[in-house]
Amino acid sequence: MLTASVVLEPSFTVGPVNRRLFGGFVEHMGRCVYTGLYEPGHPLADEDGFRTDVLDLIRELGISVVRYPGGNFVSGYRWEDSVGPAEDRPTRLDPAWRSVESNQFGLDEFIRWCRKSDIEPMLAMNLGTRGTQEAVELWEYCNHPGGTSWSDLRRRHGAAEPYGVRMWCLGNEMDGPWQLGHKSADEYGRLAATTARALRQFDAGLELVACGSSHRQMPTFGSWEATVLEHAYDEVDFISAHAYYEDKGDTASFLASSVNMDLFITDVVATADFVRARLNKTKRINVSFDEWNVWYLSRVPGQDSPWQATPRISEDAYTLADAVVVGSMLITLLRHTDRVTSACLAQLVNTIAPIRTEPAGPAWRQATFYPFALTARHARGDVLRVEPTAPTYSTSLYGDVPVLDATATRDPDGGDITIFVLNRHQDEPVQLEVNTAALGPVGVQEAVALAGPDPSAANTEHDPNRVIPTPLHAEAQQGTLSVQLPPVSWACIRLGIRADTG
Ligand code: AHR
Repeated sequence: MLTASVVLEPSFTVGPVNRRLFGGFVEHMGRCVYTGLYEPGHPLADEDGFRTDVLDLIRELGISVVRYPGGNFVSGYRWEDSVGPAEDRPTRLDPAWRSVESNQFGLDEFIRWCRKSDIEPMLAMNLGTRGTQEAVELWEYCNHPGGTSWSDLRRRHGAAEPYGVRMWCLGNEMDGPWQLGHKSADEYGRLAATTARALRQFDAGLELVACGSSHRQMPTFGSWEATVLEHAYDEVDFISAHAYYEDKGDTASFLASSVNMDLFITDVVATADFVRARLNKTKRINVSFDEWNVWYLSRVPGQDSPWQATPRISEDAYTLADAVVVGSMLITLLRHTDRVTSACLAQLVNTIAPIRTEPAGPAWRQATFYPFALTARHARGDVLRVEPTAPTYSTSLYGDVPVLDATATRDPDGGDITIFVLNRHQDEPVQLEVNTAALGPVGVQEAVALAGPDPSAANTEHDPNRVIPTPLHAEAQQGTLSVQLPPVSWACIRLGIRADTG
């Protein structure tokens, strides 16, 4: 039997759990918006056409902030097309996803939807085909109270109160040659700095995100971040990072994807801190990991597909193994809570998403829904500095990787602890011993796992509960928590402080 150990020490913390780590992403891509979260005429749609079954699932998922409207979509987007009377809005071609965009759901609907779901909006600006002028006009439409042309237009559209959007992305993946308006790091860095400086003349308190690398394998990774931040260091608060992982047949490596994500974060932070040193600054730039997930990108149709309205793109049925990887990435994000202060699971509904729907039909939870919902619900207070000791296994992409990874959070009010842990091994269970002596007497409140005999099992419309969390046997006594983790599993174990001295 493989064995692993963890020591919990409440005074060693990484930092507070940032609620913005549990963000999502809504892009005009596939059926994320249309027949996903918005479907007038659906039996469960409300008066705004928002699907209430989807709203309920999003609340259960625990999403805190949502980035909108893209993604690659934003780099050709004219936000003005998406506001005002729906019948006057133009239909446009979206080259990013070879789609026909009706603009029936736009900026105003998005903000209304956020308010209904108690979600903070994060807006991305088009710095692909557009520039500073359009960006400040968008800000004025959204955030200025009234008495100017753009703010009064919003008021005429029925929104007397400003939208109060705090967090803005200065473009999307501008390092990628696939991006409309793709730029060199120098060109983009200058544009991001100029736009950020202009926006700050209107509101110095905005939180601004500069585009980092689209993934760690980009040929410009590292130098891109350094150059962009050399231009924009004073003006921005975040540098973004994006990462998607896919099982291309090498499951051992796939299950170790979070090792790559961890390295990515470490390198972005190091690069940002290098620029800080070079420029002799004291301010720190944090990471907005505003797109992350498992994504079967190799199945996305190419540029020869016909133009279509709301095509089905990337509606993958996520497996138990995918859910374990999603859980592992949440562990990595929590471990970096001191520097990754915002993150968005990409995306939210249907397209690369934890929630699936059918037009005029039901909505259901994918396997990946569960690690996200459990982490968002139970990661409270501070992230503890946890250093698991575990045997390794060999992977072709990432070398020798520990079979187990874990993190833990501690709620300072009451001292409750939650441990998030995974076993990456495909055949062997892992016996985990957690030293809880420093916490005093603890009892297991709840232990659940995503596990099962078939790592390729997935939830579908007709079998929506095939992969769900199930109880896990865990015992806490005399300063040790013992639990056996099945192969390819992710678990959430909640400990409460006991009043007795057992
Ligand atoms: O989320 C899907 C796409 O992935 C986004 O549009 C883009 O930013 C990224 O490449």
